[in-house]
Amino acid sequence: MDTNQANETLLDVRGLKVHFPVYGGILRHKVGTVKAVDGISFTVERGETLGVVGESGSGKTTVGRAIINLHKPMYPDVELEGESLFHTEAGFMDTNGIPRDEMLPLRERIQMIFQDPFSSLNPRLTVQGIIEGPMKVHLDMTAAERKERVMELLERVGLQGAYAQRYPHEFSGGQRQRVGIARALATNPDLIIADEPVSALDVSIQAQVINLMQDLQQEFGLTYIFIAHDLSVVYHICDRIAVMYLGNIMEIGSAEQVYKNPKHPYSKALLSAVPQPDPRSDSSDRIRLEGDIPTPMAKPSGCGFRTRCPIAKDSCAEEVPEMRDMGDGQMVACPHA
Ligand SMILES: Nc1ncnc2c1ncn2[C@@H]1O[C@H](COP(=O)(O)OP(=O)(O)O)[C@@H](O)[C@H]1O
Ligand SMILES: [Mg+2]
Repeated sequence: MDTNQANETLLDVRGLKVHFPVYGGILRHKVGTVKAVDGISFTVERGETLGVVGESGSGKTTVGRAIINLHKPMYPDVELEGESLFHTEAGFMDTNGIPRDEMLPLRERIQMIFQDPFSSLNPRLTVQGIIEGPMKVHLDMTAAERKERVMELLERVGLQGAYAQRYPHEFSGGQRQRVGIARALATNPDLIIADEPVSALDVSIQAQVINLMQDLQQEFGLTYIFIAHDLSVVYHICDRIAVMYLGNIMEIGSAEQVYKNPKHPYSKALLSAVPQPDPRSDSSDRIRLEGDIPTPMAKPSGCGFRTRCPIAKDSCAEEVPEMRDMGDGQMVACPHA
């Protein structure tokens, strides 16, 4: 993290909820609600990398999509609550559920890198067409200017300029993800939300792409939200880490705090699942999670984790636990941690 830029909040998410109605029966009545994101709050400081980790289905992608306001246009009856305040020259603007035309200038400042470089690039467009897409929408540039900028961006992500005229299928997974990164950089954004950007890549390629992202962060002063299901990936690249479970943040703190000294029983369990490099290391305090993550359509009352929690008490069924500060900003949503 660049200390010159420390402590300027770029994004302030407050009580964000994203609930999808579920319809059933012949009359398509509402039969339930998927509480994909269920009241989460966090901030992202300018220049930092915030990791968001959790099992599949915990709501990580939904958080990312909520910040760039993708749900309302795609799912008009989605239930949105809370605020996602993004810092602009004109002050904080709420990206949660605002109309499309108001979102457009913000989309220039916030870009996303997607998990699957195979489906996230339009197969019918050349690399030139893919990368200049956001420039056409957001920037007033001539075709020649766009062409030159695409060349610069390709070079910056480690690809040859001649690749601009090729199509996505001609590239490997790692190369495609570099194209996705170049596209995300096209409008010179402040914030990049990277949704499991290396999960679909070979392990040998993952480090290269992560190193590239770190170099670009330095060079352009980027702020990242880095989504991953693997704590060991985010530990090395993140300043802070948020741990999600069933649409809630269970713990948030510095990477050091969450990885080395997790306090929430769920974070402890997630870490227990990380393979230990040293076979002699003590595994006696490992927590193994029983059973599967419940569906967000039938979330347990009170604490969402209580049905799998080794220290759950009867009272955990009564109320959703408040975040509490365990010292030095390590916040934990568990009264018994
Ligand atoms: N459009 C949608 N309609 C209904 N349910 C959804 C929709 N999008 C996501 N979900 C559900 O919300 C939950 C969280 O999904 P997601 O954010 O993709 O989790 P993650 O990225 O952590 O794997 C999942 O149970 C998923 O099935
Ligand atoms: Mg996801």
